[in-house]
Amino acid sequence: MNNFASLSTPRILVTGATGQIGSELTMALRQKYGGSQVIAAGHTTAPDSLLATSGPFEVLDILDTSALSHIIQKYQVDTVYHLVSLLSAKGEKNPDLAWQINLIGLKNVLDAAREYKIKKIFWPSSIAVFGPDTPKMNTSQSTILNPTTMYGLTKVAGELLCQYYFLKYGVDVRSIRYPGIISYKTAPGGGTTDWAVDMFIQALRTRDYTCFVREETTLPMMYMPDAIRAAIQITEAEASTLRHRPSYNLTAVSFSAGELAMAIQQHLPDFTCAYQPDERQMIADSWPQTIDDTFSRNDWGWQPQFNLDMIVRDMLANLSPVEKLSVQTTNTH
Ligand SMILES: NC(=O)c1ccc[n+]([C@@H]2O[C@H](COP(=O)([O-])OP(=O)(O)OC[C@H]3O[C@@H](n4cnc5c(N)ncnc54)[C@H](O)[C@@H]3O)[C@@H](O)[C@H]2O)c1
Repeated sequence: MNNFASLSTPRILVTGATGQIGSELTMALRQKYGGSQVIAAGHTTAPDSLLATSGPFEVLDILDTSALSHIIQKYQVDTVYHLVSLLSAKGEKNPDLAWQINLIGLKNVLDAAREYKIKKIFWPSSIAVFGPDTPKMNTSQSTILNPTTMYGLTKVAGELLCQYYFLKYGVDVRSIRYPGIISYKTAPGGGTTDWAVDMFIQALRTRDYTCFVREETTLPMMYMPDAIRAAIQITEAEASTLRHRPSYNLTAVSFSAGELAMAIQQHLPDFTCAYQPDERQMIADSWPQTIDDTFSRNDWGWQPQFNLDMIVRDMLANLSPVEKLSVQTTNTH
């Protein structure tokens, strides 16, 4: 039925595999464990890329529980990286769909984990769990979680749901609260931190960008290689070291829109940036500026590698001369 490299290496399902994080995480896991060990599940037909040819690809609507069961059984999956989501800005445009995909989709995966005795699940939460009344600086692991977006609400509820399944059924879920993720391979999926990627693309394309948040808006961010390393590292950590089960704070670097524009100008002096806040400003204003991720560093050895200067150099080197982000296949229904 399958030709797995070995039954002792994990048999991994990545949901949301064509997304910004999923597309790179799938390839990193295939590099580590072999193509046939890592099943990429996308919402629609396979993209025209290595993702579809370097290992199995399945179409999966996360709300279709029998399709999910079928894939888990077909490939004898024992580890799931569950990345399906409707992000913050898209979620505000369609809160009902965000509830379904983010929360019911997660519950479907947790129920399948119970039924098929999945060994480990990785599920990312987000800095969107915090809200306007959360302290903004050096925000701690256990503080006020009172988000005002549907996306944030589903992440808080999702964290509690994961904790419940862990305590009640022993489902081993590992979770981190990602900050905004910056990358050059796959376009971001409609979040509030998309400006940090858009700014690079427009800087290279037209040398000017109109940013949808104010110049002084500061948010925690992370470069994709750090985000991928964190996902794999926490999923492979000894269970006994993970003392904070619902989800871990995680960060790498914080900067404002204006600081990113200045860092890009160091390399492209004729780049100009204007600021025209839209509805996403309110979401950005409700999130912390800097994050305390001490527990991640202490419990499972988290250490980011990319600072702002390194991110800017790498983004410009890899996007240049023609910006070439692949756009995800459509993900709304
Ligand atoms: N990218 C970031 O900046 C960021 C920050 C914090 C947390 N996260 C979290 O990381 C995870 C991955 O995020 P991402 O940036 O890759 O998101 P993304 O939007 O790029 O990818 C999500 C994927 O989910 C798929 N999807 C949507 N509805 C679906 C459905 N009904 N069935 C199956 N698939 C469906 C989409 O096709 C998309 O490819 C999410 O849980 C997100 O909340 C991301």
